[in-house]
Amino acid sequence: MEKINIGNNAHVYPMPVSLVGSLIEGRPNFMAVAWLSRVNYMPPIIAVALNQRHHTPKGIQENQAFSVNFPGADLMEKVDYCGLVSGRETDKSGIFQIFYGDLKTAPMIQECPLCLECKLLQVVPLPTNNLFLGEIMGAYTEEIYLTDGKPDIQKMNPFVLTMPDNNYWRIGEWAAKAWSVGRKLKEKK
Ligand SMILES: Cc1cc2nc3c(=O)[nH]c(=O)nc-3n(C[C@H](O)[C@H](O)[C@H](O)COP(=O)(O)O)c2cc1C
Repeated sequence: MEKINIGNNAHVYPMPVSLVGSLIEGRPNFMAVAWLSRVNYMPPIIAVALNQRHHTPKGIQENQAFSVNFPGADLMEKVDYCGLVSGRETDKSGIFQIFYGDLKTAPMIQECPLCLECKLLQVVPLPTNNLFLGEIMGAYTEEIYLTDGKPDIQKMNPFVLTMPDNNYWRIGEWAAKAWSVGRKLKEKK
């Protein structure tokens, strides 16, 4: 089949859905974020790409800290709401139960199966967004979300986003073991 070029407004496909937490003038705020990735092995660094118009960057700069919270599909409506309204006009501090870790200035969400507490390392300016690089200082979860001490995607039940069609999707079935399923081909070469 011939490939067709559908233009340059392309995205990572699919994207994990998260809530980035920050403390802005003493008030916890959460925004929906899907443009994120782990970007360094050691120390563990995560990057989130935030539009310069949003309220969240103010709090991250103010405290040099933020959190990345991975919600279960049960929180879809609340997550979407956090992506529709800005903390500049609307108080989003009462939507979730909040807890703090060692940094004390990165609000995290009790209802989320996995919460990362990050110390701001660097801000990379881009034309419309800024890339916030944070060192992961701690990852908070509960025993019910773990298998063999590691986060278990089936227990966490996260959801993903596709753009530009703008849809949420649940995670499907387990497929194969990574760094393993390709071994047969490697051995043949
Ligand atoms: C599912 C979803 C994902 C989003 N991902 C991003 C993102 O990665 N970066 C971004 O700048 N805005 C993103 N947004 C938009 C912000 O969440 C939204 O503008 C929010 O109201 C900003 O909140 P704040 O002004 O309180 O910081 C996303 C929105 C939704 C619904």
